[in-house]
Amino acid sequence: MDREKPLLGTVQETLLIPLYARAAETRKEHALLRDPHAEEIVACLDYDFGRFDGLPSLTGALLRTLLFDEWVADFLSAHPRGTVVEIGTGLNTRYERVDNGLARWFELDLPDVIALRRRFFTDTPRRTMVASSVTDEAWTAEVSAGGDGPCLFLAEAVLPYLDEADVHRVVDLLADRFPGSLLALDTAGPGFFDTQEQHDALSRVEARMRWYCPDAGSRLTHWRPGTETVASHTLTSLPPALLARLPLPYRQMVSALTAQRLPQAEGYRLNLMRLP
Ligand SMILES: C[S@@+](CC[C@H](N)C(=O)[O-])C[C@H]1O[C@@H](n2cnc3c(N)ncnc32)[C@H](O)[C@@H]1O
Repeated sequence: MDREKPLLGTVQETLLIPLYARAAETRKEHALLRDPHAEEIVACLDYDFGRFDGLPSLTGALLRTLLFDEWVADFLSAHPRGTVVEIGTGLNTRYERVDNGLARWFELDLPDVIALRRRFFTDTPRRTMVASSVTDEAWTAEVSAGGDGPCLFLAEAVLPYLDEADVHRVVDLLADRFPGSLLALDTAGPGFFDTQEQHDALSRVEARMRWYCPDAGSRLTHWRPGTETVASHTLTSLPPALLARLPLPYRQMVSALTAQRLPQAEGYRLNLMRLP
């Protein structure tokens, strides 16, 4: 089969980093996760994935994915018929990993990404792809229609690429249209944001982060008083139960990273917020 060149915008190209992380991990003996679908997609794409081979930040991306997966699993055990919305879904396979057979899922990304995604994934009555910028409020009508249950929004490695005014707009949109919902997001603070030119994976693509946020709790509460921080972790302060499930080499890697207290690791946070 001819491999397809992914025709993606600059920010959109970043989706290939976590995709490759999951595909490459699948081939390892002690894997954080296995994602045969990611392997198949990588094999179909005409792109120089070799540039990401062996980069340490791929492990960071996988740990982030595991934590976001855990937040979805927790949400679905409390709300089996709830709604999960992946903002900036890229070619993520979260549905394949944690769907419970009952929830409604929306997978939203910019039109060029959704066009590519449609080559590898299909809509079902419970699973819908949405081609839109997250900043365009029209998509919220599609999510609101036909469901009034609780919502979990996931923005994994997405919001740092937006301008702060756009992130503020997205938070307003979610809080206005889906009050009380949960929002999982990562934030880039000091040590991480300022060193992005040297970041092992980002320095191999053109996109750069634009939203600097040292503390999601205070920023979001300032924008929307009443926002609660449900959880906030760095890669060196993951929930103990998640850490305990990692293969031994990864537990050792995380404890070595913790001992180093690198500003790059400490300045990157994974947050779960409840909007007012
Ligand atoms: C680093 S990738 C992460 C992809 C996916 N969340 C994952 O973890 O595999 C960033 C994603 O954000 C998407 N994105 C960036 N700006 C966006 C916007 N304004 N609206 C929707 N998606 C956006 C990109 O197209 C890309 O798919």
